[in-house]
Amino acid sequence: MNTFFGKTPLGEDAYLYTICCGQLQANLTDFGATLVNLFVPDAAGNMADVVLGFDSPAAYAASDTYFGATVGRNANRIRNAAFIINNKTYRLYANEGENNLHSGPDGYERRLWKVIRQQEDRITFSLHSPHGDQGFPGNADITVSYILEQDSLHIVYDAVSDRDTVFNLTNHSYFNLAGHDHPEKAMEQILSMPARFFTPADSQSIPTGQCQPVEGTPFDFRLPKPIGRDIGQDHPSLLLQAGYDHNFEVFCNPCAYLTDPGSGRCMSVSTDCPGIQLYAANYTDTVGKGGVPYPKRSGICLETQFFPDAVHHPEWKQPIVKAGEKYHSVTTYRFSW
Ligand code: BGC
Repeated sequence: MNTFFGKTPLGEDAYLYTICCGQLQANLTDFGATLVNLFVPDAAGNMADVVLGFDSPAAYAASDTYFGATVGRNANRIRNAAFIINNKTYRLYANEGENNLHSGPDGYERRLWKVIRQQEDRITFSLHSPHGDQGFPGNADITVSYILEQDSLHIVYDAVSDRDTVFNLTNHSYFNLAGHDHPEKAMEQILSMPARFFTPADSQSIPTGQCQPVEGTPFDFRLPKPIGRDIGQDHPSLLLQAGYDHNFEVFCNPCAYLTDPGSGRCMSVSTDCPGIQLYAANYTDTVGKGGVPYPKRSGICLETQFFPDAVHHPEWKQPIVKAGEKYHSVTTYRFSW
């Protein structure tokens, strides 16, 4: 079932596409190849929509929250909004101070993607991103597929470019397993992550290059704890980023587990990416689907990606893909209830 979702800022028609499998249902829009709703049951069969979102393309376009969106070509930050490939400097928009965040103001989250395949339980969006788009080299063809299984949502990214380029795509969903309409419960969600270290960042949220052990810090999620338990601690990294907004190593898979203690809904995250950004919606303050207020900290992002600013850290795994080489990445959110 596909329904009209609204006009994009460019006057194009955007649609909402529904996919289902078992008890899971997802609604996606071609505007930004965005996950708008994700319905998950609890043990008693009560459904909740567990992601934050908006009711129209216009509302998505007016916001800088990236709710549920496909972020690219490069997720997260690039210092000084520039990088070098093959001795050539490529300049991006400086849209966060002197740096680049999520590729710039005209990111993939604001494009109308094409639907190239749809079945009951899956959908594939495609986007052509020309050479020089946002400042990145290479004509690129990109697809993002959302595939539901009985208990899982797989997000599959494929891309190819005719020049060496950066590919580092992520999904920017904000999860609240109590339901998006219970923002007061978001920080009570229990998180665990096996990561042994995270990458501290400076006052502009650019990684310092350090890999800091989580042990003895509020960044230690190796044992499950409510996200809100230590977020207010007087730790330099929490003060600089106003809460959790940090990249953790993906030490093993699943690399994160989230539980809503009230409903018993659980979610695990598995990925082939080297990093996962934990962002606790520190800067969110908006009104979302159905007029629900989403104040600060009303959801949790677990964005799978390369380490932020990896292009300036040769010691970290590089998001550089050679001309003609295939970029392929899969992240799976698995639910239990
Ligand atoms: C970043 C945050 C940013 C948010 C919304 C996250 O991926 O880490 O710093 O505020 O996206 O733009």
